[in-house]
Amino acid sequence: MKGWNFYKCLIVQVSVLLQTADAVNVALGKPANQTDTYGKHTANRAVDGNTSPDLNNQSCAHTLSHNASWWVNLEKIFLIRSVKIYNRNGDAGNRLHDVELYVGLSERGFQSLEGFHHGQVGASYTFELATPVYGQWVRITRRNPLDKELTLCEVEVEGVPYSAANGVLYSVFNGYVHTSTAIDVSAKVGSKRVCASRCAKTENCISAYYNTATLTCSLFDSLAFQKGDIENDVTVVNSIAITNNSREQLFGK
Ligand SMILES: *[C@@H]1O[C@H](CO)[C@@H](O)[C@H](O)[C@H]1NC(C)=O
Ligand SMILES: *[C@@H]1O[C@H](CO)[C@@H](O)[C@H](O)[C@H]1NC(C)=O
Ligand SMILES: *[C@@H]1O[C@H](CO)[C@@H](O)[C@H](O)[C@H]1NC(C)=O
Ligand SMILES: *[C@@H]1O[C@H](CO)[C@@H](O)[C@H](O)[C@H]1NC(C)=O
Repeated sequence: MKGWNFYKCLIVQVSVLLQTADAVNVALGKPANQTDTYGKHTANRAVDGNTSPDLNNQSCAHTLSHNASWWVNLEKIFLIRSVKIYNRNGDAGNRLHDVELYVGLSERGFQSLEGFHHGQVGASYTFELATPVYGQWVRITRRNPLDKELTLCEVEVEGVPYSAANGVLYSVFNGYVHTSTAIDVSAKVGSKRVCASRCAKTENCISAYYNTATLTCSLFDSLAFQKGDIENDVTVVNSIAITNNSREQLFGK
């Protein structure tokens, strides 16, 4: 018994197989929002499919605030490989610099920094994620609060829908339990590996909880945990590419 702060993480198997042909712009037409809005330049103009850099062409999102963010809800979890941002033209293009990309599994919290562009963005810039990550929210902001507003003429998110078929991967975290309600509970499940495999076969399951004392396997469509019994509570995160950033946000250091 090592106490609540101790956890073990075993990456049991890591083999994310990406289906290149399936990737599409999953942000198109999705609900977008920003800190606040200048005139009619609402956040959804950055996901309207119109990449025109001309603000007068009603194709760009534009905030009123200078220390501002723009974000989109992809409405379900996607494996995200790249994010392309389009700048506006003219002198105002110099406002888009030192840009940060965050990807998250919830609107607030569980968001990790997955990309950074140092300096001014040209007509467009593509953040290529070194390790593709699962996320439902994508947020764009600038590292330093600037003396200018944030304008984005389009944001394209290249991703494939979450599916256990996208890879064979699960990570095991000892001593954690879910805080949300299970979508399925089964008794007499022989091992955490069998429990992980039930999750892989169940639509919307992204993580599972296996209790080694009661042999109960519970399936969840969410990723919200609290510390539990270090000996018996086993959380299995299924097919989620756990990066250093997201691991820390999910389970602490
Ligand atoms: C958009 O974001 C603002 C600022 O955080 C918030 O007040 C507002 O409720 C959000 N709107 C929607 C539709 O989420
Ligand atoms: C405005 O957007 C439309 C639709 O994408 C495009 O055809 C047109 O060339 C754009 N005009 C300018 C001035 O960028
Ligand atoms: C900028 O906004 C962020 C997020 O709301 C906030 O944490 C930070 O304190 C702000 N910085 C300044 C200088 O206002
Ligand atoms: C993740 O963290 C481990 C342990 O701290 C470190 O060795 C590794 O380089 C990190 N990987 C990345 C991509 O930062």
